[in-house]
Amino acid sequence: MERVRIEASKAYEVLIGPGLMEKAGQWIAQAVKPCRAAVITDDTVAGLYGDKALKSLKAAGFAPCLWAFPHGERQKTMATLAQALEWLGEMEISRSDLVVALGGGVPGDLAGFAAAVYGRGMRFAQIPTTLLAAVDSSVGGKTAVDLAAGKNMAGAFHQPEIVLCDTDVMADLPPELIRDGSAEMIKYGILADPALFNAMKAGAWKADRESAIARCVSIKRDYVTADEHDEGKRQFLNLGHTFGHAVEKCSHFTLTHGQGVAIGMVMAARAAGMDPAEIEAACAACGLPTAPPYPAAELYQAALRDKKRRGGKITLVLPEKIGQCFLRTIDIAELPAYFAKGTGET
Ligand code: GLY
Repeated sequence: MERVRIEASKAYEVLIGPGLMEKAGQWIAQAVKPCRAAVITDDTVAGLYGDKALKSLKAAGFAPCLWAFPHGERQKTMATLAQALEWLGEMEISRSDLVVALGGGVPGDLAGFAAAVYGRGMRFAQIPTTLLAAVDSSVGGKTAVDLAAGKNMAGAFHQPEIVLCDTDVMADLPPELIRDGSAEMIKYGILADPALFNAMKAGAWKADRESAIARCVSIKRDYVTADEHDEGKRQFLNLGHTFGHAVEKCSHFTLTHGQGVAIGMVMAARAAGMDPAEIEAACAACGLPTAPPYPAAELYQAALRDKKRRGGKITLVLPEKIGQCFLRTIDIAELPAYFAKGTGET
């Protein structure tokens, strides 16, 4: 098993290894004294892992209960958050109890946000069940729901007590969920680790998922501990996201986050004047698309409401070479030119 310690406003460990779901209660009990544990998940994950999680929490001395909402990004709303909070109230969960966020990015972000605001803030544990959640959203304390104005527009920074990433769960994922997580893993390679990038390109990471996931979490740790509240260095983690969110939005979310990020990273390379061939090859090797499916003008309109925009400015993450990127803050008026370069229109 690999352990990555995150020293943010709260210090906690991310454990990565086999069999962690089965023993979730035991591991959580090392971080939080047994108490009532409110598991928040979606209906798909509840069917797959709900009983296992409840059984293991019970065996470790927790008094667990579970609430599941219908799966899908469309459910990541203030309305579902309100239901989750009301459920915590009905269950008489107190702020000294624990929320357990079980699932992919949607349950993780929503349950984390519920924990951030219920009782003005309570503790929570993350058990990611998708590769994307394991390497990205479960680590670093970003919690959120979507608003009509955009994805993750309402949320809070709230760090978990512990993150348990079971590599057996990761080995059982359907191909589309592996693809989605792979995009974020390629991102870490482009940001900071040519060896990881090459392992993604060659498919070699699958031979040792534990190390590959731990490497991604360690890279994320460096950005989060340097800039927990996303005002400086953490913005590097948005590589491919300004372009990628626009792609997702134009597709009305028929393209997944990972697919958007893959296309977004290729666009970022082009916009930076870097030959995107290597990034295209790594994405293609992971079954991810690379060609922007919409014209620059349409993508730019979608990007205008990006929450990364601050006033009349936006900070882009641009790759220089594999393993090295830089931040460039530009006026919004300059953005159309970057989109046109990113799609290859200029
Ligand atoms: N997913 C980007 C971040 O955690 O900052």
